[in-house]
Amino acid sequence: MITIEGVTKRYGQTVAVRDISFSVERGEILGFLGPNGAGKTTTMRVITGYFPPTTGNVTVCGHSVLDEPIEVKRRIGYVPENPSMYNDMTTIDYLRFVGAVKGVPKAVLKGRVEDTVDRCALKSVVNRRVGELSRGYRQRVALGQALINDPPVLVLDEPTTGLDPKQIYEIRQLIGSMAGERTVILSTHILPEVSMTCNKVVIINEGRIVAVDSTENIGKGLDQTRSISLVARGPFDKIKRCLASIDGVGGVKQEGESYTVETDKGNDLRPLIAKRVVDEGFELLELSSRAMSLEDVFLKLVTVEEEEKTS
Ligand SMILES: Nc1ncnc2c1ncn2[C@@H]1O[C@H](COP(=O)(O)OP(=O)(O)OP(=O)(O)O)[C@@H](O)[C@H]1O
Ligand SMILES: [Mg+2]
Repeated sequence: MITIEGVTKRYGQTVAVRDISFSVERGEILGFLGPNGAGKTTTMRVITGYFPPTTGNVTVCGHSVLDEPIEVKRRIGYVPENPSMYNDMTTIDYLRFVGAVKGVPKAVLKGRVEDTVDRCALKSVVNRRVGELSRGYRQRVALGQALINDPPVLVLDEPTTGLDPKQIYEIRQLIGSMAGERTVILSTHILPEVSMTCNKVVIINEGRIVAVDSTENIGKGLDQTRSISLVARGPFDKIKRCLASIDGVGGVKQEGESYTVETDKGNDLRPLIAKRVVDEGFELLELSSRAMSLEDVFLKLVTVEEEEKTS
């Protein structure tokens, strides 16, 4: 659906993104993560045809941003970082106006505006001027104008920044509801947002891609060890000795009746640990394995890069 091939973008001497490549399949919701200045907005501007890449290419639904920028723009609904809208227009007039500019046929425009008002929960502000709306409502109008021509692709640059928790929840629900139906790329700083709404993650740091994977798998490749937590009842020392004697177990930490066991990656010792603890006559109350969270992965990738640079 969207292919980014070897894209580099320079602003004069500054290289904002360097030789990045990734692709997004139809119906995927891709989370684009990176610290401030990593190159997220720049990448999104290249994808949407806002400006061309210095080198490399992007194709959207088979159309190249270099050769057919208009075809690309037709297929993308874009919510920029700071959307500029016509503040003097009412919400409804603005949506009608954008729809007409984007070439929505007159015969369907009315219905499309109504759907968008419904979908983005704008009913209570249709007659208010855009410039008078609160940040949350402005953001919904911005989403509305992106959706008005029913584009197959949505590109959202930090859509939930500055919103209160309830508004964040609502915008996320709205984005989540498009899974499978539209292809979405959204950039964010909020890591739980990615776990909640996206099925694929791209992490970018200092203009380079440092990880691309499914939300589920992103931590697995990095996880050198795996920790298993258990709660068991019995003499602490004996339980610790029992756990430490199991082949493949690295360290054992104990806190009250809770134990954390470090094991080698790829070696699922849960069945063996459960059996040994029970066989030796201790009571096993809980057993679970903990994968790296997205936050662990993000910090690890971004900090490793910084450490490498300073060493
Ligand atoms: N118009 C511009 N002229 C010169 N340099 C720019 C311009 N826009 C961005 N940059 C530089 O390019 C780099 C990437 O910026 P970009 O805005 O793409 O990052 P970002 O990941 O979106 O950051 P943020 O999370 O703060 O929005 C930064 O070093 C930035 O200073
Ligand atoms: Mg940005």
